[in-house]
Amino acid sequence: MAVLVTGGAGFIGSHTVVELQNAGYEVVVVDNLSNSSPKSLERVQEITGKAVKFYEADILDADALATVFSENKIESVIHFAGLKAVGESVQKPWEYYHNNVTGSLVLFDVMKRYGVKNIIFSSSATVYGTPAEIPVTEKCPKGEITNPYGQTKSMLEQMLMDIQKADPQWNVILLRYFNPIGAHKSGKIGENPNGIPNNLMPYVTQVAVGKLKCLGVFGNDYDTPDGTGVRDYIHVVDLAIGHVKAIEKMKENPGLKIYNLGTGTGYSVLDIVKNFEQATGVEVPYEIKPRRAGDIATNYADASLAKEELGWTAERGIREMCEDAWRWQSNNPNGFEE
Ligand code: NAD
Ligand code: UFG
Repeated sequence: MAVLVTGGAGFIGSHTVVELQNAGYEVVVVDNLSNSSPKSLERVQEITGKAVKFYEADILDADALATVFSENKIESVIHFAGLKAVGESVQKPWEYYHNNVTGSLVLFDVMKRYGVKNIIFSSSATVYGTPAEIPVTEKCPKGEITNPYGQTKSMLEQMLMDIQKADPQWNVILLRYFNPIGAHKSGKIGENPNGIPNNLMPYVTQVAVGKLKCLGVFGNDYDTPDGTGVRDYIHVVDLAIGHVKAIEKMKENPGLKIYNLGTGTGYSVLDIVKNFEQATGVEVPYEIKPRRAGDIATNYADASLAKEELGWTAERGIREMCEDAWRWQSNNPNGFEE
């Protein structure tokens, strides 16, 4: 029996494939490579020594998915495939709703046809909007979402809840990620954003490697210890291991489960700059810029439910996240391109 990983060539997907293979699972990947390189899966193979069965296919293509399900004995699906750029989603809502929502519905339908009823879905702390309480527990109500990307996450959560209610044989685990950063220790796989990065850590590493001149810090007048935004950064390998724990949970037929995956600790933008500089010895010039629209002051998780029910906690600290992100970036200044 195999685990199907949609979006498995991407940042979180590729790290999850490594951890699944290391834990002895057979893995099948579907990805249309719209935001990734096939080289990431070659690198996964270098890390684990195991081949990855890969289908270059779009989740919108029901026939292609049917081929995957008929050629493999799929037991569970980990569903990462989707577009994820918040700003772009505001400009291109059509593409985001079509790719993320329609694409996922096609996937759920093919799963139903093949009797595969176990799914782990990549959700996001974005569904909490401006969280009603910090640290954020899973009981915290969903909040107002200000962009189409976040809407697709919230809608897909609801669709999966409704599917599970309609057919309780389905097991649905919604994983709400906080801010994944870092990279595999080997420096062979990591985050590879297109164009100028939107997210903090890839921006920092590209300044450090000399591709960008200066980090803009979006606001220093928030109600936080140093005035800059506070987030719960989590090492992508810890996040990947969280998915392996969720796959193990599937054996208990858990029904519907929702877990925050974060560390429970918040770091400010300036904390990240400082830790990065100390971990790598490379200076990161920055300047204070106006606040970025849609940002909140503080967001970090209460991750105790995942600890209790999955036996999972994030183990890698902020220094290690910085060191590993830097190893990946400095070994691969142009990502997977030669
Ligand atoms: P990523 O872009 O690196 O990976 C997504 C993968 O999905 C890419 O390889 C892309 O080519 C593929 N894909 C996109 N549309 C597809 C389609 N129609 N058919 C097949 N493949 C398709 O992103 P990531 O950071 O690894 O994120 C993975 C998942 O986690 C996404 O669903 C994302 O929304 C979610 N998530 C990410 C973060 C984050 O900060 N990185 C935070 C919360 C949630
Ligand atoms: N920031 C800067 N300069 C930059 C980039 C970011 O100062 O160049 C700041 C932001 O203002 C924020 C912090 O760094 O305070 C983190 O910003 P990111 O863009 O890295 O992350 P966000 O918390 O804004 O968003 C991320 C993902 C979303 C996801 C959300 C869930 O990008 O997809 O986490 O909490 F929905």
